[in-house]
Amino acid sequence: MKVLGIMGSPRIKGNTDLLLDAAFEGAESQGTETEKIVVDRLKIAPCKEYYGCLKDGNCVIQDDMTGIYPKLLAADIVIVASPIFFYNLSAQIKALIDRCQALWARKYVLKLDPPNSTRKGAFIGVGATQGKQLFDGAKLTLKYFFSTIGVKYEDELLIRGVDKKGEIKDYPTALADAQELGIRLARK
Ligand SMILES: Cc1cc2nc3c(=O)[nH]c(=O)nc-3n(C[C@H](O)[C@H](O)[C@H](O)COP(=O)(O)O)c2cc1C
Repeated sequence: MKVLGIMGSPRIKGNTDLLLDAAFEGAESQGTETEKIVVDRLKIAPCKEYYGCLKDGNCVIQDDMTGIYPKLLAADIVIVASPIFFYNLSAQIKALIDRCQALWARKYVLKLDPPNSTRKGAFIGVGATQGKQLFDGAKLTLKYFFSTIGVKYEDELLIRGVDKKGEIKDYPTALADAQELGIRLARK
């Protein structure tokens, strides 16, 4: 079993990063292997609509995304962790998702099914405000993304009212809840 965690905040050891680490601790306690992708540290161009992917399912842009496609397709569990930026995922994660148009082409144009549709996906989201619809935009994007890569939206941890770097440590239960999420995902 392998968990791939996509960390979408530019702040290392910020709220998102700490929550993902806690989820990893939970998953690792169940004997699951983990790998974190810090998207902000990578070179991932936004989709340029060259549409080379319609021919063979591969993106013609050569950058760090090339190494991420196989990881997305091989992981048993994919956790996307992101701060809410303007009611959606961070731009770093959105660029990665848009580049998965190549996987969309494989599935819907070339009719090559993604592997094992029993694979699980989860969302860890954190935002500063208490907005009722704070996570709606991100969740809609993620559900469509997960379905494109053959992953079921299985679980989530959504935290409101956390803003400053590392403030999540003062939020009662958040890190424990993230650990629980990791345990649940690894067990299910
Ligand atoms: C560009 C930007 C946009 C943001 N937009 C929102 C927003 O729409 N709603 C919200 O509640 N918080 C918003 N925030 C606050 C972050 O979600 C919040 O600070 C979060 O805890 C950051 O997590 P991190 O430490 O993992 O980066 C925004 C922050 C930035 C920098």
